Amino acid sequence: MASIDLASPTVSAGGNASALAKQRVADGIVGLKSYGLLYGSSPVMLDLYQQIERVAGTDATALIIGESGTGKELIARTIHDQSSRKDAPFVAVNCGAIPDELIEAELFGHEKGSFTGAVQGRIGYFEHANGGTLFLDEITEMAPVRQVKLLRALETGTFYRVGGNDLISGNVRVIAATNRDPAIAVKENGLREDLMYRLAVFPLRAPPLRERESDRELLAQHFLALLNQQEGTGKSFSKRSIETLRTWSWPGNVRELKNAVYRAFILAEKIVELPHPHLASRVKKPMTQGDAMSVWIGTPLADAQKQIILGTLKYCGGDKRRAAKALGVSLKTLYNRLSAYGDEGAEDEPEQ
Ligand SMILES: Nc1ncnc2c1ncn2[C@@H]1O[C@H](COP(=O)(O)OP(=O)(O)OP(=O)(O)O)[C@@H](O)[C@H]1O
Ligand SMILES: [Mg+2]
Repeated sequence: MASIDLASPTVSAGGNASALAKQRVADGIVGLKSYGLLYGSSPVMLDLYQQIERVAGTDATALIIGESGTGKELIARTIHDQSSRKDAPFVAVNCGAIPDELIEAELFGHEKGSFTGAVQGRIGYFEHANGGTLFLDEITEMAPVRQVKLLRALETGTFYRVGGNDLISGNVRVIAATNRDPAIAVKENGLREDLMYRLAVFPLRAPPLRERESDRELLAQHFLALLNQQEGTGKSFSKRSIETLRTWSWPGNVRELKNAVYRAFILAEKIVELPHPHLASRVKKPMTQGDAMSVWIGTPLADAQKQIILGTLKYCGGDKRRAAKALGVSLKTLYNRLSAYGDEGAEDEPEQ
């Protein structure tokens, strides 16, 4: 069976470094500091720009794979902006945040009275995105039965609204994203293999920041320039901050770097002082060494998991989004766990 090569999912010209370099020259990618909405001039980003350029000119379904905060949504938007669909809508949907029972109606729309509470008919995201691009984020979080409907829509280009009898044909380009390895998601999370292959006609890998260290300064300067523009200020990085950006690997991905620049910008009068990465990682982490809870040795795994989930939620002041992030699970997974715990999960009000 064919497998997706996540290490180099590329339409590379020839597969060796010099052929790639030649192709970059041919594509006018060499020396770019940004491409569409994406900033970066490291070799991995130049490869990515080249792949975006190729896929944007087609209607192929793309699957973007990468850690959280690496710019997957920005890549999807850039593909859209570079495509002939750019003047039509780009609709982003986070599949992980929509309850299972609603996702079909959200994607395909529903007719009046098709389920309890459907007092009015409504079109879904597929119709909203007509002529444009539908971005399905956290695709691995969709329940397998719903995935079948999605696969059908992708294969036939047609679908029914929930409770409807009219076959609707759409003209939508689908781009999906996941922060999990799709092969593992197939084995462990119920991602259907046929859907994975259908989505990954063109796989793209969003590289983590640690693989593009030379981009740190460029990205930080870009975020600072955006803030200066927004606020009408002229703040600049201290020498030490530039040194830090050049020499220290940064904890986390682009999102964490962007947040650190934002925090430092707010604190600064004129000279923006980035925290040292050691401090940055302590500030960034939702939990510190001091925030511990204990579990008895021999506690059944399911009980320990429950204690950790409820403890983390309490620690996060009841903020489910933050708790899910800290636990490394999707919001939907957290909701599912809490509803399985019943009243206990629901009653766990945040401490004031
Ligand atoms: N190459 C880049 N150039 C400029 N900004 C970037 C780049 N990559 C990411 N960002 C910024 O970093 C933040 C996170 O990016 P984005 O939301 O696209 O990540 P993601 O991979 O979709 O994350 P998640 O998996 O958590 O949904 C956004 O504010 C985005 O604008
Ligand atoms: Mg995203």
